[in-house]
Amino acid sequence: MGQLDNKVALVTGATTGIGLASAKRLAVEGAHVFVTGRRKPELDAAVAEIRTAAGDRVTGVASDVSKHDDLDALFAAIEQFGRGLDIVHANAGGGELAALEEITPQMLDHTFGINVAGTVFTVQKALPLLNAGATIVLTGSTSATDGTPNFSVYAATKAAIRSFGRTWAAELAQRGIRVNTIVPGPTNTPGLAQLAPTPEDAPGLLGMIASGVPLGRLGEPDEIANAVLFLASSQSSFMTGGEIFVDGGVRQI
Ligand SMILES: NC(=O)c1ccc[n+]([C@@H]2O[C@H](COP(=O)([O-])OP(=O)(O)OC[C@H]3O[C@@H](n4cnc5c(N)ncnc54)[C@H](OP(=O)(O)O)[C@@H]3O)[C@@H](O)[C@H]2O)c1
Repeated sequence: MGQLDNKVALVTGATTGIGLASAKRLAVEGAHVFVTGRRKPELDAAVAEIRTAAGDRVTGVASDVSKHDDLDALFAAIEQFGRGLDIVHANAGGGELAALEEITPQMLDHTFGINVAGTVFTVQKALPLLNAGATIVLTGSTSATDGTPNFSVYAATKAAIRSFGRTWAAELAQRGIRVNTIVPGPTNTPGLAQLAPTPEDAPGLLGMIASGVPLGRLGEPDEIANAVLFLASSQSSFMTGGEIFVDGGVRQI
């Protein structure tokens, strides 16, 4: 018996990092998981990895959260599966470093298009498919509430996520749908390493970031997935509009 037997879940941005760990955890607990990402080879590899851990309870749909047509095709595939949707982990996202002077309209549109609009329209288009008691988990960031230099655009998108989580929780409570936000601290993923200007610079950057974490290390994606499972399952049944920080103490101490 898994905690999520017979549930259907969607995890966006599940080809690597936090999304992949979340999707794998939800599938191991019994859910059938739809996973997305833009890069087909990485998506196929993620599906194979989840299959090895959890059997056939996984469907990959190559899909860009910033494209409405892609989202429509994704939700058509979930509708065709025929069991509605119980869990949405709107996780796809990312960012890049840029000082205020370096921010371009293209960069702003790109980051807000994925992290903000992508999250809005993922959740909006999921609404007709949501079963009674469905849960929505948004991926926030400790950046939403700090002032890390050169990270203002990304931080602003994650502050928007925090706000959406509260408002949508209020809007959806009458339908019995809960909305919560997982707040990872620095986590050992390809997305974090890609903040370095070159691959050679990545170990130095990751080491520097880890040294600023009270627990003295980066988080691992599986440690974030543990909290996603809690928010996605009935274990968190009296929780909505909330946040769980899994941040090694970064925003706590
Ligand atoms: N790592 C951290 O320290 C950290 C901390 C706080 C919050 N977060 C958040 O955690 C989430 C996952 O990041 P991660 O660290 O796990 O990075 P990651 O390993 O780079 O994963 C990002 C995922 O999102 C997908 N993605 C990116 N743009 C997309 C788009 N337009 N449409 C669909 N999928 C897209 C990527 O796949 P494709 O490239 O194939 O599309 C990939 O699967 C993000 O929202 C990030 O902001 C990360």
